[in-house]
Amino acid sequence: MSFKNVIITGTGSYIPEVIVSNDTFAENEFYDANGVAFESSHKEIAEKFKHITGIEERRYVRKEQTASDIGIIAGRRAIEDSGVDLETIDQIIVAHNFGDVRSNTIQTDLVPSIAARIKHGLGIENPSCVAYDLVFGCPGWVQGVIHAKSFIMSGMAKKCLVIATETLSRVIDMHDRDSMIYSDGAGACIVEGVESDSKEGILSYEVASYTKDEAYFLFLGKSNITKTDPKIRYIKMHGRKIYEFALNNVPSAMKTCLDKADADITDVKKIFIHQANEKMDFEIIKRLYRLYKVRNIPEDIMPMSIHKLGNSSVGTVPTLFDLVKKGNIEGNHSLKKGDLILFASVGAGMNINAIAYRY
Ligand SMILES: CC(C)(COP(=O)(O)OP(=O)(O)OC[C@H]1O[C@@H](n2cnc3c(N)ncnc32)[C@H](O)[C@@H]1OP(=O)(O)O)[C@@H](O)C(=O)NCCC(=O)NCCS
Repeated sequence: MSFKNVIITGTGSYIPEVIVSNDTFAENEFYDANGVAFESSHKEIAEKFKHITGIEERRYVRKEQTASDIGIIAGRRAIEDSGVDLETIDQIIVAHNFGDVRSNTIQTDLVPSIAARIKHGLGIENPSCVAYDLVFGCPGWVQGVIHAKSFIMSGMAKKCLVIATETLSRVIDMHDRDSMIYSDGAGACIVEGVESDSKEGILSYEVASYTKDEAYFLFLGKSNITKTDPKIRYIKMHGRKIYEFALNNVPSAMKTCLDKADADITDVKKIFIHQANEKMDFEIIKRLYRLYKVRNIPEDIMPMSIHKLGNSSVGTVPTLFDLVKKGNIEGNHSLKKGDLILFASVGAGMNINAIAYRY
């Protein structure tokens, strides 16, 4: 059975409770990649950090929580929001990059898969509900929604639960100032095939993987403090290269996606973009509008959560969407039926993706 449209019928998210301000890092000694301590005071580093990223604070999970635990909460909320009977879900697609990393351990735990753990945690018994993980860098949740659409359009599924969950606080190097970017969080949605006549839901998508020069822009590496065990590795990035890569490639991917939907930038009501750096996101949007030669960017086009939630990788876009959909974010950010919205993400791989969506 195939469907005319594929729509998101419910969303959910989990924002961890532990608030970590930039000041929390004051105790840390920061070193550069060569192990040389920075001369600036913590206050100066924290101010600069806020200035270049927009991040004031971020959220971490509690000691006893794991990525699968918070994925279960977000997933359950999306199921409740959509009203689907959980035993009728055909697929559970879980985007993440590090699996469950328990507090005070350095091992990624992926057996069983995070999707299997989440399906178990949700209490779903139907063996025909296929649960699998998706590792695609930060764009994992957007990619999961694209997977869901493909499976639904091919007739292999009718209802999919797409979850994003990440606990980056478990894999950061506390001696690397770039670690202040990262946070924890989970978001989810139910994606369903429907028989509606007018065009709605996912209109188009665009995906690209750049691996020639870009594959190792994000990687695992040793701590910046030289006296630790070099075999213990943490999330590392070539931030400036990522920044430039994103500016050069994300706007055109977003435009290609809109072109495929036969839509113009002036039709777009909201853009939900991966929250990695506020300055980077504003510049991406500026360049997107420039591709259309549009000078005036609508003030409320891009809801932002980065100031208070930081970068929870796969978690940012679904969490932001859930917050806006439920009216839980500051600013003029409501959505109404028929609005054209654009999802976009960029991250490790380097992968870029976008979805044009009729709400
Ligand atoms: C990492 C990142 C914040 C660095 O910002 P940047 O503007 O590129 O930084 P630069 O290396 O050009 O340095 C600019 C200034 O900021 C400082 N700086 C750089 N990183 C910093 C950090 N993490 N904290 C505080 N200060 C920092 C530099 O020392 C420099 O200071 P100066 O002007 O006094 O010399 C930024 O490149 C970034 O966010 N990149 C993309 C990250 C991303 O998307 N990651 C993907 C995760 S999915």
